[in-house]
Amino acid sequence: MPRILITGCSSGFGRAIAARFLDEGWEVIATMRTPATDGLPNLDRLRILSLDVTQRLSIEAALAEAGPIDALVNNAGVGMLNVLEGAEIDKARELFDINVLGTMAMTQAVMPAMRQRRNGVIVNISSSVTLRPLPALSIYSASKAAVNAFTESFALEAAEFGVRARLVLPGSAPETSFGKNAVTRMGMDVPDAYGSFVQAYFQSLRNATEKTSALDVANAVWRAVTDVNAPMMLPAGADAEALYREAGRCAA
Ligand SMILES: NC(=O)c1ccc[n+]([C@@H]2O[C@H](COP(=O)([O-])OP(=O)(O)OC[C@H]3O[C@@H](n4cnc5c(N)ncnc54)[C@H](OP(=O)(O)O)[C@@H]3O)[C@@H](O)[C@H]2O)c1
Repeated sequence: MPRILITGCSSGFGRAIAARFLDEGWEVIATMRTPATDGLPNLDRLRILSLDVTQRLSIEAALAEAGPIDALVNNAGVGMLNVLEGAEIDKARELFDINVLGTMAMTQAVMPAMRQRRNGVIVNISSSVTLRPLPALSIYSASKAAVNAFTESFALEAAEFGVRARLVLPGSAPETSFGKNAVTRMGMDVPDAYGSFVQAYFQSLRNATEKTSALDVANAVWRAVTDVNAPMMLPAGADAEALYREAGRCAA
């Protein structure tokens, strides 16, 4: 039975990805900072492990307990909604630590075993914000652009050993707690000078009709993991697919 490890499964996309692979009969190692079974089925094929992607010892302990894995999904991430002038640089550093260095550290940690077995796939969750510049998202977008560049470059090294690396770019998914978690962890003190500009922009986001669901993301990850011919970058959700086409990328 193939085995997948997913980061950030306490909510949102991570939980939906775990459920999708369980439905397909995979053994799933759902990792989260604070282990809890909420929203996940009670199955022997599901193991829940504690993992904070910013902590080396936590990564080592989780991977030792997980045993060999066929697939890794780097899903853990945090957002930041603010103009640059309103953002605290210490918070930006924390965000990069989770979104970028956490993804790199997890990838580096699973690679020796995958390389030796000449088998494995790593899927990194990026974002459709990397397809078109948007205001109040400069720091978050920069972190996901770094994930894109890292993954595309690393994929060339990994391919030498039969290991695949792929990107999934979800669109905007108001159904997850992402926005609320971003505000709680990263703050959102928009400077007065930008107030009306940011309000108007947020209203345009709320009015958008095309959205992404957690299931769209789970389906895109399923394809990235199981289809050896899947493209390097898979948009997930109607809004992400539209942006992907607008950016001049071929239809996925
Ligand atoms: N929702 C969207 O609109 C959207 C769009 C495009 C891309 N994305 C990306 O999709 C991914 C999942 O987002 P989501 O919408 O599912 O948001 P979410 O519900 O807030 O889930 C984020 C997950 O990341 C975990 N996490 C945060 N810091 C962590 C750390 N240091 N170590 C391990 N786990 C950590 C959170 O765990 P805790 O509960 O412990 O904090 C949570 O399980 C993120 O990478 C995000 O950037 C989201």
